[in-house]
Amino acid sequence: MPALADAARGRLLYGGDYNPEQWPRHVWREDVRLMREAGVNLATVGVFSWARIEPQPGVRDFGWLDEVLDLLHEGGIGVCLATPTASPPPWMGARHPETLPRDAAGHTLWYGSRNQYCPSSPVYRAHALRLATDLAERYGDHPALRLWHVGNEYGTACWCDTSAAHFRRWLRQRYGTLEALNSAWGTAFWSQGYGDWAEVLPPRTAPYLVNPTQQLDFRRFTSDALLECFTAERDALAARTPHTPVTTNFMPLFAGQDGWRWAREEDVVSVDLYPDPAKGPEAGAYGALVQDLTRSQAGGGPWLLMEQASGAVNWRGVNRPKPEGLLRLWSWQAVARGADGLCFFQWRASRQGSEKFHSAMLGHAGETGRHHRRVRELGAELDRMAEVTGTRVRAEAAVLHDWDAWWASGQDGRPSALPDHAELLGAWHRALWEAHLTADLAHPETPLDGYRLVCVPQLYLLTDAAIDNLTRFVHGGGTLVTGFFTGVADADDRVREGGVDARLRALLGLRTVHEWWPLADGERVALSDGTHGTLWSEDLETEPGCAVPLRYAGGELAGRPAVTRNAAGAGTARYVSTLPEPAALRALLAGAAAEAGVRPALEGLPGGVEAVRRGELLFVLNHGREPVTVPLPAPHTDRLTGDRHTSALALPAYGVAALRRD
Ligand code: GLA
Repeated sequence: MPALADAARGRLLYGGDYNPEQWPRHVWREDVRLMREAGVNLATVGVFSWARIEPQPGVRDFGWLDEVLDLLHEGGIGVCLATPTASPPPWMGARHPETLPRDAAGHTLWYGSRNQYCPSSPVYRAHALRLATDLAERYGDHPALRLWHVGNEYGTACWCDTSAAHFRRWLRQRYGTLEALNSAWGTAFWSQGYGDWAEVLPPRTAPYLVNPTQQLDFRRFTSDALLECFTAERDALAARTPHTPVTTNFMPLFAGQDGWRWAREEDVVSVDLYPDPAKGPEAGAYGALVQDLTRSQAGGGPWLLMEQASGAVNWRGVNRPKPEGLLRLWSWQAVARGADGLCFFQWRASRQGSEKFHSAMLGHAGETGRHHRRVRELGAELDRMAEVTGTRVRAEAAVLHDWDAWWASGQDGRPSALPDHAELLGAWHRALWEAHLTADLAHPETPLDGYRLVCVPQLYLLTDAAIDNLTRFVHGGGTLVTGFFTGVADADDRVREGGVDARLRALLGLRTVHEWWPLADGERVALSDGTHGTLWSEDLETEPGCAVPLRYAGGELAGRPAVTRNAAGAGTARYVSTLPEPAALRALLAGAAAEAGVRPALEGLPGGVEAVRRGELLFVLNHGREPVTVPLPAPHTDRLTGDRHTSALALPAYGVAALRRD
């Protein structure tokens, strides 16, 4: 199976989306010159070129693309060639309106933007596949070709009749019989029983709450339908170019695709990442989460940052550029956490269209712009750091994450609408990040024996296999910390007997979860150590042997257990029945980590400073706006500057060091 190393060829990849169809020919030559000067070695071409390549159905205009690829190759720049199937041309929607997606209320989403295709449409699929096949045929032997980029940020969902028929086929495969579907969906409730497959629909807009398992299955189905679109194109490409890796770029921490399942189908895992520069160190924590997830999706190996912004994006209410140093900091953060390449959206800023105010490697200010200077400096620095390619990040802690649980937990009719899977995941991962601990993310059914500490921010839905997996981990000597409202539902979103699965309760030392007591927005509940919980609380009863390190100290549950700690087999399992405020959660997880023998990559780090070990290098990153001094246990040399640091490292605001021990 080809890998990122086949595309990177011993260097860190550097480049971005290149949209030459937006520019006259003479600009292409200038682009190649400027790319070379900026250290660019990879250009992603064709992402939105469908209308240019196929101006009329079946007609091919490859001449301009031949020229672009030849020019890039002459300039020594590799090509990540995209199948342009994320944005069909207007002719497709006009001639085949059934290819246009419909929302849950039946409204058509028209062309004039992008992503306007129904993933189940055989017409869309056939056109997309023909185009991918022709691209492979034409450019499979092109010397510039390094990597295939299929589609772009898959995520379109559709509720049309074609999708409905496809959904039914998918359900038949999952359930076999209508009885099994009725049982899984719990259709005895509200007279929803189906007597004929033809009656079954996607969860369309209805008068009141729609069946939760129907919604959950539609999420699963949509992810799978999109995945079929991807794998069909991938297979067409791979058949012609078996040695060229294939990727598709994920949106960061995106709900619309089962990221674990998708990653298994890719040669290279890539992601687009746009933290908000206005958010300070919090944005650094978010970046770390996405990067850790992406690395984990890549099985711990190198991955590709397919898109980042050199400055401001244009799709937030207020779009802040990156202050001096931040582009470099976040770029090295991605490398530190396993990226073997950094690319941008996009190379040259558009002058028209919806993204004309989005930053680019070459902004409107041109080659003398401050902004472009930073891009060049980064390119030069990356070019000197080939030693990092292919090396791995080792984490002794894992945070469990699962799309099924995410989908199921986000539905209507819960005890509280406030808890949000992604936010809880972010809060827990950030607590570890602030405690300077490096974590992988893992699927709850993945073997966990390589980890000492496993954290479950919230997995509302847990399969039997996942519960057995957690039990094995703890009994084998692991330290588990589990957040509230975990293990409540089975794979069909059926509440487990007793509210929380009995095996999980035994593991956690909980006799009964009597009631869930969600808190109001902004409400805090006092805990016995003087800190506070937020968002949620629970009325718990523990088993005799289970320790209660923290109790509720206020509100209706005063005196009852808030955080429990149970010894099970050779390990321990904690249950955290509220969301402790950030400092308290950090202290709690740091305590569990210390007990599990999990240590930061560097001791004595100030707040907002990140230290990650990748291979032989120790990356130290200052996310703060103030300079810091970091104590070093031994002399190190900074591979970025060549400077030697004997017992301390001084970093300016947004400073970075890549240290190698002398
Ligand atoms: C996404 C898309 C790009 C572009 C950027 C803008 O990542 O893939 O085409 O729209 O967002 O930030």
